[in-house]
Amino acid sequence: MNAVHEPLAEARPAAAGAAAGAAAGRRRAGEVILEVKNISLAFGGVKALTDISFDVRAHEVRAIIGPNGAGKSSMLNVINGVYQPQEGSVTFRGRTFRHMNRRQVAEMGVARTFQSLALFKGMSVLDNIMSGRNLKMKTNLFQLAMRNPWFGAAEKQENEHREFVEKIIDFLEIQAHRKTAVGRLPYGLQKRVDLGRALAMEPQVLLLDEPMAGMNVEEKQDMSRFILDVNDEYGTTVVLIEHDMSVVMDISDRVVVLDYGRKIGDGTPDEVRASPEVISAYLGTSH
Ligand SMILES: Nc1ncnc2c1ncn2[C@@H]1O[C@H](COP(=O)(O)OP(=O)(O)OP(=O)(O)O)[C@@H](O)[C@H]1O
Ligand SMILES: [Mg+2]
Repeated sequence: MNAVHEPLAEARPAAAGAAAGAAAGRRRAGEVILEVKNISLAFGGVKALTDISFDVRAHEVRAIIGPNGAGKSSMLNVINGVYQPQEGSVTFRGRTFRHMNRRQVAEMGVARTFQSLALFKGMSVLDNIMSGRNLKMKTNLFQLAMRNPWFGAAEKQENEHREFVEKIIDFLEIQAHRKTAVGRLPYGLQKRVDLGRALAMEPQVLLLDEPMAGMNVEEKQDMSRFILDVNDEYGTTVVLIEHDMSVVMDISDRVVVLDYGRKIGDGTPDEVRASPEVISAYLGTSH
């Protein structure tokens, strides 16, 4: 079906303090939508991941935490088909795969933001978010060629995509910057545009690699609220890598803890925070 889906609705007014303790009040997670089984990944002699298994339930916010070099980004790269693991499998909505490429994963409804931003710095906010729409646009043009030879239909589709992107811009409260080149925006807003690019794919699962890195407290609160709003309003499942433990505790339902490529913890925020192994490897007393 090539119709533009349910739009990202009207931008919601800021729910003050939405991030604080929000996980408790949110919808219950559903069935398992994504299952990572016995994944091992090595680069030459470097074992980035060793026998990692965990699952992600529909509609939950699942955090991945751990020290630098623990394998967090590598884990997301395995899930979205950037890295091919030597061992193990990933099952997404009942389909198991070992060798999917990025495009196939995207077509299955998984979108990703990157630790180091992957935006087109010289292009406007609008065009960058539109670039996240490409996959859907190409599909549409193909479908149009197959089904609908009438001139004008492509233009209508293009307008619908633009409208969808404008809804995202409203939702993320970046209307004032829509024509600005992304490279000229402060870092915190660039992160928001990156989220917008991923949302343009209308993902069922959103993989976020340190979406709040380098942000001040206020920017982190804004980003937490956007993530929770997406999760609440559209039921989007979120897998989130984050170093700021107060953010992790506030917005996630369950947490996986990695250390030197191994899983050392998996449970609710309270459970992992109380785990002696997690405390000694990562949390210590400084987080
Ligand atoms: N493409 C690659 N080639 C070689 N080694 C890699 C590659 N990607 C990751 N690694 C190695 O795998 C290990 C895990 O790296 P990864 O980036 O997944 O860690 P991380 O938990 O995301 O760390 P950080 O918190 O610093 O982002 C590291 O030792 C890293 O050097
Ligand atoms: Mg990383």
